[in-house]
Amino acid sequence: MGQVREFLRFQGELKLRGVPRPARGPVAQAQPVSAAADSVLSLQSIRAEIGDCQRCKLCKGRQNIVFGVGNAKARLMFVGEGPGRDEDIQGEPFVGAAGQLLNRMIEAMGLTRAEVYIANVVKCRPPNNRDPEPDEVAACEPFLRAQIKAVKPEVIVALGRHAVQTLLRDSTPVSRQRGKWREYEGTPLMPTYHPAYLLRNPAEKRPVWQDLQNVMARLGSSKPQGS
Ligand code: URA
Repeated sequence: MGQVREFLRFQGELKLRGVPRPARGPVAQAQPVSAAADSVLSLQSIRAEIGDCQRCKLCKGRQNIVFGVGNAKARLMFVGEGPGRDEDIQGEPFVGAAGQLLNRMIEAMGLTRAEVYIANVVKCRPPNNRDPEPDEVAACEPFLRAQIKAVKPEVIVALGRHAVQTLLRDSTPVSRQRGKWREYEGTPLMPTYHPAYLLRNPAEKRPVWQDLQNVMARLGSSKPQGS
């Protein structure tokens, strides 16, 4: 589906009219080949390190390890909670209903899914989509942190409680953290609601759209990597 249509769709969901489509500027700019190759290699070695992971009990019920997807040199990285049923089957993050909404949010920002990088706090599906438990987060989190180090995004968007609280090591409810810029090891991080929450609470799309516009403003005003 075309980007303009996606934007209009997300706009429609927000019941907003006349919101200008963000300019596709430096966000989409190509990265130098060597830096991109380094990031690809780093991500490959992180995936190799994970291997056929048995570090926590989530390995028992999984079909696939859901590592991450997107541009290894993305300027913008989204972090979610963990795979659901569809992601477990397909081995890719955010491909189910919440993923469709995330795609529309990305497109509404004037970007494509291929331009950003998407990963989760835990890489295996918790049974019946329950919350990941502390020991599972502890086992998997180093790989997320390594992924962030490899991609070196200019901005991170943390989607929902587990991503926000894990990356920031801050147990404040997301409702109180959302929309306020934070830092993750020197990288600006925007806490916001998870798309699955937005599916249940569509009225919250409006503040999330504000958060995403703030992210675009930040990316738009900064120098592209490697220039
Ligand atoms: N929810 C998440 O947090 N991550 C996914 O990959 C899918 C749904």
